[in-house]
Amino acid sequence: MGKKEIISRIEELKKKRNAVILVHNYQLPEVQDIADFLGDSLELSIKASKVDADVIVFCGVYFMAETAKILSPEKKVIIPDKNATCPMAMMIAEDDLRNLRKEYKDSVFVAYVNTRAWTKALVDICCTSANATKVVNSIEENRKIVFIPDKYLGDYAMRKTGRDMILWNGYCPTHVLITEKDIMDKKNKFKDAVVMCHPECTPPVIDISDEVLSTSGMVKFAKESKEKVFIVGTEVGLNHRLKKENPEKIFIPATERAICPNMKRITLEKVLWALEDLKYEVEISEDIRRKAFNSVKRMTEIV
Ligand code: 13P
Ligand code: SF4
Repeated sequence: MGKKEIISRIEELKKKRNAVILVHNYQLPEVQDIADFLGDSLELSIKASKVDADVIVFCGVYFMAETAKILSPEKKVIIPDKNATCPMAMMIAEDDLRNLRKEYKDSVFVAYVNTRAWTKALVDICCTSANATKVVNSIEENRKIVFIPDKYLGDYAMRKTGRDMILWNGYCPTHVLITEKDIMDKKNKFKDAVVMCHPECTPPVIDISDEVLSTSGMVKFAKESKEKVFIVGTEVGLNHRLKKENPEKIFIPATERAICPNMKRITLEKVLWALEDLKYEVEISEDIRRKAFNSVKRMTEIV
């Protein structure tokens, strides 16, 4: 089947199933192009809770599809490849978190949304890359904070807010591939370029960037900025959207190595099969879902 035929079959099945396709900004270009809604983790979570459909086809990694299910339990949420997982979300085990909770009994536990549903169920509040500092700032001054699992986003939020926090030793294996040298080399070559980076990057990269933003934050900033050239310090998939929405501007990936292999597992064919067979359905026990819902809801209330 050719690409055109796959797309028209997807469109047909979408109507038949009353489905919407939510797509993260790191997905393959052809998957981004069939999105009903394209966004960052925060926007996709909010969208999932509001969308009027029976089925959500989630093109992203598993924790994102789980977040959609947490917020929209009455809908069928399907992910076209169930092995599209986020390694960072796996960097904290349930025992680790339970032990941490015992060790820091009176602390407020903040989890980056890049975590599994059971993790969200065991913390007090979630945050995304777009609102981590807002969430941390919302916590009473006299409370200690434990931040999991991303030590770099945690460190960034800690420096921005001036709050002292206990950081778990997790990180994104894709964003650590972006080095200070990559940014300096690009800056030397493109002298007038603005450097945007994701807060999952390491502190030396963050320190030499002009803007630290979530993926959709970068889209918004690039659109509104008067500048013409941008060095993009995040997963390479975002460049497709940046270029498509700003054809008159130039976007240079900080490094072509910054690829999230899990995000790339979802293809047009898999989206079609997902709609044909309604697989793979995301299921979460009601007890965990309810607890996780409270942590996500607290975050969306702050935003
Ligand atoms: P955003 O919420 O900024 O899209 O980030 C998601 C992610 O997985 C970054 O690695
Ligand atoms: Fe996880 Fe990093 Fe991939 Fe985002 S880019 S999904 S944090 S591995």
